[in-house]
Amino acid sequence: GLLDTKIKAKGKKYFGSAADPGTIGVAIDVTILTSDYGAYTPENSMKWDATEPSRGSFTFTNADALVAFAQAHGRLVRGHTLVWHNQLPAWVSSITSASDLTAVIQNHVTTLVTRFKGKIYAWDVVNEVLNEDGTLGSSVFSNLLGESFIDIAFKAARAADPAAKLYINDFNLDAPGAKTNGMVALVNRLKSRGVPIDGIGSQTHISLGHAGTIAANLQTLANTGLDVAITELDIASSTSTANEAQQSSDYETVAKACLAVSRCVGITTWGVSDKDSWLGAAKAPLLWDTNFVRKPAYTGVDAAFS
Ligand code: G3I
Repeated sequence: GLLDTKIKAKGKKYFGSAADPGTIGVAIDVTILTSDYGAYTPENSMKWDATEPSRGSFTFTNADALVAFAQAHGRLVRGHTLVWHNQLPAWVSSITSASDLTAVIQNHVTTLVTRFKGKIYAWDVVNEVLNEDGTLGSSVFSNLLGESFIDIAFKAARAADPAAKLYINDFNLDAPGAKTNGMVALVNRLKSRGVPIDGIGSQTHISLGHAGTIAANLQTLANTGLDVAITELDIASSTSTANEAQQSSDYETVAKACLAVSRCVGITTWGVSDKDSWLGAAKAPLLWDTNFVRKPAYTGVDAAFS
């Protein structure tokens, strides 16, 4: 594909997008997903509520479809996400015993990772575990198990598919500060305990004018010795001409940031067109507009890779 081919020529592994039934079932989205993108992340289909809505009862219809689509086109998949306090079924949130929750995490992680063994480039094993001040966020997982739920999840994932890269993923890692410091400290603790972790995902949901600190911050994350990736990129804006120009410049800056950091493996945008963004079309956050026309944002990324 176009952008994917160009980022690979710069030594990176992929230029990816979120995808799911709402896009892999739409012809124009498929055209773009297969022309410009080399990796897909299921936007919702692998989350806990979608895959284990009741205890021990797994449903993989949409996750299977996404993985089959990627395989049919020879593309990578980033698995998203195994343990997250959102889109979590009530039966998990209401668990009250640490040993029960441990078994539930192990069974969930092992079942998902085993089902897609050999077909996932990287898993977001845990998602959004930190508060903005860098401390561990409150959830059923941390409340019953403290930080050890992270160890439990990563160990189960490694055992089920030793070849998959295992990531911790979070937002607001775009500039120096308490959250970035907290992530670095957490990763260093995990490494010192021998937890099998390979990468840090920086979601990179940003707004206009906030791209300038990203290269240095990715390097700060990479200095832990792990891979880093931009995992959910979008830039909230509007359709005004001035904002589209600023957004194009910001996209170029973000794309160059990954190129500048040797441990940055790739970039994933959180969707294809503004029509389907979780932010809503008015924020116009992606590379194609609601009519699937390439925006200045596309030109910005293309310029970075050219
Ligand atoms: O599937 C149900 C449907 O049955 C129901 O009728 C409908 C009514 O609201 O909701 C549908 O579920 C929605 C789901 O997306 C699937 O479309 C949820 O309401 C909606 O909240 C959910 O939003 C997703 C959001 O995560 C939930 O936390 C977004 O699509 C998805 O883009 C977003 O992605 C997250 C990443 O996973 C983690 N990082 C932040 C990022 C943006 O929030």
